[in-house]
Amino acid sequence: MRIAILGFGSVGQGIARAILAKNLNITVTGLADSRSGVIDAGGIDLAAALARKGNGDPCGTPGVSPADVVAKADYDVLVEVTPTNVETAEPALGHIRGALRRHKHVVTSNKGPIALAYPELRSLAEANGVVLKYEATVCGAIPLIHAIKEGLAGNAISRLYGVFNGTCNYILTRMAAEGLTYEQALAEARELGYAEADPTYDVEGIDAAIKLVILANTILNMQTTLDDVERTGITLLTPDALRLAEDQDCTIRLIGEIVPKAGVLRVSPRIVGKAHPLVVEGTLNAVTVETDLAGDLTFIGKGAGSMETASAVIGDLLYIHDRYVQGS
Ligand code: HSE
Repeated sequence: MRIAILGFGSVGQGIARAILAKNLNITVTGLADSRSGVIDAGGIDLAAALARKGNGDPCGTPGVSPADVVAKADYDVLVEVTPTNVETAEPALGHIRGALRRHKHVVTSNKGPIALAYPELRSLAEANGVVLKYEATVCGAIPLIHAIKEGLAGNAISRLYGVFNGTCNYILTRMAAEGLTYEQALAEARELGYAEADPTYDVEGIDAAIKLVILANTILNMQTTLDDVERTGITLLTPDALRLAEDQDCTIRLIGEIVPKAGVLRVSPRIVGKAHPLVVEGTLNAVTVETDLAGDLTFIGKGAGSMETASAVIGDLLYIHDRYVQGS
């Protein structure tokens, strides 16, 4: 299978490392970071590209843009993992449209295009006989979308709720365990590289809200926008509030919740009993899905990180390989 990778930051490099480590039968014929790109029908040397990146060098040739890679490289699947603004969804949205119009499958980790334009992109993919996969957009390494869409396909989902933002979970964990102030804990979370480029998206609950919109619109048959999510962040929580909760054998977590039948989407800090399965530590994510046939299921795992996000992207790539590319 031939792929083009757009974006060679933490996620793009994680994908390259995973392809090399697993010796996957994948040829990368196009690669671009935000500065430049390279197109090579014979296959790009990923080890050399990673080494160049490690030295701080651009990964391509001046004059070859990411858009050129989308439009001109010869690939089966575009892997779109560029740094993208979650509100405008660009540049990822333009790249995804370009690839779908060329009848290329797309795998993305970018939330913006899926939250903003999923119906349009899905129609575009269908019209061009290809698929768009986006497992990495929600809860990183947890294969939540696949589990609900495929594994739980026969179930009605009455409620889905949990911890969707690792940065907030880390901040709350550290405030409770060490008595850190919100500002101190946020500074630590930023050092870990987990937070969004603008951490307002994390701490105001916007990142979690976007993930709810993606789940609602793509697998729960709802039609929502970010404005439909009732949202309160964690910025006003004090160490005292956490201490009070801890005194009652409880703690506070930023919980995202969808109740499909009632049309409810909300993100807010909640007091949760310490023994509750959703009380995970540090940057973990945890999601409980309430179903009619399968009962309640809770998924726990890493919500971000280079290899964790690469895991979700590679899962999508192999799904496409097995169903659409192999033998074609
Ligand atoms: N900033 C996000 C988080 C990254 O902290 O969970 C994954 O979407």
